[in-house]
Amino acid sequence: MILVTGGAGFIGANFVLDWVAASAEPVLNLDALTYAGNLESLGSLAGNPRHRFVQGDIADRPLLDRLMAEHRPRAVVHFAAESHVDRSIHGPGAFIKTNVEGTFTLLEATRAHWAQLPATEKAAFRFHHVSTDEVYGSLGPGDPAFTEAHPFEPNSPYSASKAASDHLVRAWHHTYGLPVVTTNCSNNYGPYHFPEKLIPLMIVNALAGKPLPVYGDGQQVRDWLYVKDHCSAIREVLARGRVGETYNVGGWNEKPNIEIVQTVCALLDEMRPSAAGPHARLITFVADRPGHDRRYAIDARKIERELGWKPAETFETGIRKTVRWYLDNADWVAHVQSGAYRDWVATQYSERASA
Ligand code: NAD
Ligand code: TYD
Repeated sequence: MILVTGGAGFIGANFVLDWVAASAEPVLNLDALTYAGNLESLGSLAGNPRHRFVQGDIADRPLLDRLMAEHRPRAVVHFAAESHVDRSIHGPGAFIKTNVEGTFTLLEATRAHWAQLPATEKAAFRFHHVSTDEVYGSLGPGDPAFTEAHPFEPNSPYSASKAASDHLVRAWHHTYGLPVVTTNCSNNYGPYHFPEKLIPLMIVNALAGKPLPVYGDGQQVRDWLYVKDHCSAIREVLARGRVGETYNVGGWNEKPNIEIVQTVCALLDEMRPSAAGPHARLITFVADRPGHDRRYAIDARKIERELGWKPAETFETGIRKTVRWYLDNADWVAHVQSGAYRDWVATQYSERASA
C-alpha cells in the first residue's frame, strides 16, 4: 500500500480518487483536516476497502511510527502542507510547523521504517515529495522558464517553507540514502479546489454576484495545470522517476491573472448568464499582495524527455471542465462556505480596500 499525506486537500483528494480508480493498491490517507482538509471531497470512497483515512498530524512521530509499523507502506506520497501564500503572510508560523518541521518528522519516521525493510523492498521504496515552482522565485518578462537547475530564490513565507522542505528531502537522500523523488509543479486548478485560491474564488464570487478581487494590476503571470494532469505526472514519477531527481511539472500555459478572471467570467456568461449583466462587471482591482511574485513559468521538458509525460488538458478544456464542476457541485461549495472559510475571507478582504 501507499501512504498519502494531505489526501483530503485539493490535489491530494484528486490524487487519491484517481489512484483508487486506476489501481488495486490500497491507500492510507493521513490528513490533519485543517481548514483546507475536506472529507466531503472523498465522499465517493465511503466504504471502499482500498481507502483508509486517518486524521492526524505529520509532525506526530508516535502516530507515524504506529502507522508505518501497522501498514508497511511501500511508498509515501507527501502532499500535506499549508499552501496559501496570503495566509503565510498573515501567519507564517503554521507554515514552518507543517511544511518544515512536519516534513522533517515525516522524513525521520520514513527513514526508520525504510531502514528495517528487506533489501528488495528497501530498493523499491519511494518517498515522493510534492512541491511547487514557487521555490524558484520570480521571473522577469523575457526570462527563460524555470528548469530543475534554477537556483532557489523563494520570496514568500510559503515558498521559503516549501524550499526548506525540498532541501530536507534532498539531504535525506544524499546523507541517508532514502530513495526520494521530488516534483515542482506550477499552479493547479480543477475540482475540489478550496475557494480561497484565484480560480475557485472567482467562480464562487461571480455566481454570488460578489466583487472579483484582482490584486494590483492583474498582470502577474502564472503557469496553470489541470489538477488531474498533476496527478498523472506524480504517478509517472513515482513509478519511473530516477531516485534523487527533481522533475518540474507544468502546463505550458502562462497567463496573466486578469486573463484568467476574464475567461472565468466569459464561461459563466455562457453557462450561467446573469440577469444583472456580464460577470466581468464584478472585476475589482484591490491592493497588491506584499512581495507578490511577478511571473512563474515552468520548463517541463525533463519529465517529457525521461518519462514521456505531457499534460492531457489545454487551459481551454481544463477551465471549461472546472467551471462546469463548480456549477454541478453547489452543495460542496455551500458546505465549504458554511465553515471556517467564511471567517477567513472576512479577515482577509476587510484589510484590502479597493485600489
Ligand atoms: P491544500 O491546502 O488544499 O491541502 C493541504 C492538505 O494538507 C489539507 O487537507 C490539510 O488538512 C492537510 N494538512 C495540513 N497540515 C497538515 C499536517 N500538519 N498534518 C497532516 N495534514 C496536514 O493544498 P493543495 O493545493 O492540495 O497542495 C498540496 C501540495 O501540493 C502542497 O504540498 C503544495 O505545496 C503543493 N503544490 C500545490 C500547488 C497548487 O497549485 N495548489 C502547486 C504546486 C504544488
Ligand atoms: P493563488 O491562487 O493564491 O496562487 P499563488 O499565489 O500560489 O500563485 O493566486 C494566483 C494568482 O492570483 C496570484 O498572482 C495572486 C492572484 N490573486 C488575485 O489577484 N486575487 C485573489 O483574490 C487571489 C486569491 C489571488
